[in-house]
Amino acid sequence: MNDVRAKYGALEVLHGISFTIEAGEIVSLVGPSGSGKSTVLRALMGLTPITGGDVEIAGEKMDYSSARSVREARDRMAIVFQQYNLFQNMTVMQNVTLAPLKIKRWPKDEVTAEAKRLLGLVGLAAKHDAFSDELSGGQQQRVALARALALKPQILLLDEVTSALDPELVNEVLDAVRKLADEGMTMIIVSHEMGFVREVANKVIFMDHGEVIESGTPQALFETPKTDRARDFFSKILRH
Ligand SMILES: Nc1ncnc2c1ncn2[C@@H]1O[C@H](COP(=O)(O)OP(=O)(O)OP(=O)(O)O)[C@@H](O)[C@H]1O
Ligand SMILES: [Mg+2]
Repeated sequence: MNDVRAKYGALEVLHGISFTIEAGEIVSLVGPSGSGKSTVLRALMGLTPITGGDVEIAGEKMDYSSARSVREARDRMAIVFQQYNLFQNMTVMQNVTLAPLKIKRWPKDEVTAEAKRLLGLVGLAAKHDAFSDELSGGQQQRVALARALALKPQILLLDEVTSALDPELVNEVLDAVRKLADEGMTMIIVSHEMGFVREVANKVIFMDHGEVIESGTPQALFETPKTDRARDFFSKILRH
């Protein structure tokens, strides 16, 4: 992202965001509520209009100017939200294969094989035929991860995927994300789970009021923040 600005109506909420993520890296966006973390992910997906700057993926500038070009940009990424919104009247397998079959029109045997691989990866090999409302929140969120990956994104965007879960279910979802990290998935992760961020992120970007205040390795940011705002934020959240 190069100097990206974004607005909701007349209100500018991203005031020139720049950062780089290398293939296979994990970047974590952290910062106070309302600092613009979700908006960064939404802007990347073309869900919130970008009013300045640009986004480049693998050397190509993304074009968010038409519905068609937004679809092309969106095709490179997949996003998973706090609310996983599975189709409740479908099985796990149907949830994961629906878009690849109906929207992408990829061959059924390939789609099915990949869905099985992904469900195995997220620890749900035994749940192919379960309906999503028969699953726990953590299991549903893992189906949502598999569903996002079934579209073969170059970059996976995760927006507080564990925040709506009961504490005992958080770890099973984080384990699934760890597996994706081991597979070399490029990910931008918004998370309040600082222990997890510290463990998996190559780079942490601390945002406040729609700006990047400081970025660096988790260790550098958590232990020796350079700015007062980062120091203040991390001293509050790392205490508990
Ligand atoms: N749909 C919307 N319409 C208008 N303003 C919005 C909208 N969504 C977010 N905002 C504003 O944009 C700013 C950034 O919000 P954003 O959701 O990106 O923050 P965040 O860092 O993800 O916060 P949180 O940690 O609470 O999820 C906030 O000031 C928020 O009030
Ligand atoms: Mg948010």
